[in-house]
Amino acid sequence: MIFVRVIGFSVIVLLCYTLFANILPQVQSNPPEDDEPIVAGEMDMAGMLAWGEKLFSGKGTCTLCHNNLGRAPDLLEMDLATAFDERLKDASYAGEAKGQDGAEAIETYLRESMVDPSAYVVAGFGKKGSDDKVSPMPDVSGAPISLSEPQINALIAFLQSRAGVEATVSLPEAGDAEADADEEDDEGPAETAEAAIEKFTCGACHDLAGSGADTGPKLNGTGKRLGLEGLRKAILEPNADIAKGFEADTMPPDYAEQMRISELNLIVDYLMNLPEGGGQ
Ligand code: HEC
Ligand code: HEC
Repeated sequence: MIFVRVIGFSVIVLLCYTLFANILPQVQSNPPEDDEPIVAGEMDMAGMLAWGEKLFSGKGTCTLCHNNLGRAPDLLEMDLATAFDERLKDASYAGEAKGQDGAEAIETYLRESMVDPSAYVVAGFGKKGSDDKVSPMPDVSGAPISLSEPQINALIAFLQSRAGVEATVSLPEAGDAEADADEEDDEGPAETAEAAIEKFTCGACHDLAGSGADTGPKLNGTGKRLGLEGLRKAILEPNADIAKGFEADTMPPDYAEQMRISELNLIVDYLMNLPEGGGQ
């Protein structure tokens, strides 16, 4: 009788593990969605929150790093209210939200996190060797993520609401329309290597087009070492071989589903021709 129960229990435990193993990997980055142009001047706060949520996994590519893999705080899972409260009370916080409180302080903290990530670095998440002084997160208003001011406001509104405070950002005004008009061009296949690299935000992690990012290795000289096939494999199956000194599970594992062959070829060609030494 006991024996049967033990077996039954083991089966249930096994089932739970299997379920978990199947659920977890799917939490990773979703394919970017198309960002419809917004009609500035007509958006209300509810629309702003929905837009922010979409940008978080889409154009903002925040889920590339903010996920359950431990490379960055898991913003969608953690208790944001408590976390932000702790950051702002931390003696080493010297940013612009000092002296503000409530929703206003959280707005300032979030904006600063996005456009000046090194102003305050969450303990344990700094660039290697920087003693938590330098953040690996790129300024999301600059290339390659290039979010506009209204888009950053939408993300702030979304994260404020997840922290349980009211959204204090301003809604987009009619004059903001142009700023957003030029961002809805990326549904078709990229025509140049630079456009493909921007579309798949390789420069958020690799030092490409002068981004200076170092979450992933420098790619100069990689083509010579890996060859065409090796490069293709490194992009489509990033976890098959891990570059020395870097960690697995950082690079998005689903480029194979998102990229067209033409785009992959452009990128591989570009990497083959990168000058060997310096940054590019
Ligand atoms: C290349 C990886 C990367 C990307 C892409 C990225 N982040 Fe981050 N982010 C980090 C890391 C690492 C930290 C922790 C270090 C720090 O405090 O800067 C962080 C910190 C933050 C924080 C502070 C979190 C806290 O616990 O206090 C916020 C807010 C944030 N990011 C928002 C965003 C948003 C919004 C986006 C998308 C528009 C984004 N990040 C894109 C890596 C990234
Ligand atoms: C979220 C961060 C991130 C993004 C985005 C990213 N990578 Fe990576 N990449 C890494 C990391 C970390 C490694 C090292 C670990 C590994 O080999 O998987 C890596 C490894 C590589 C390698 C192998 C390098 C070597 O020396 O073996 C190549 C090639 C590469 N990436 C190309 C790309 C291209 C092309 C893109 C865009 C289509 C891209 N990566 C997007 C983080 C990223």
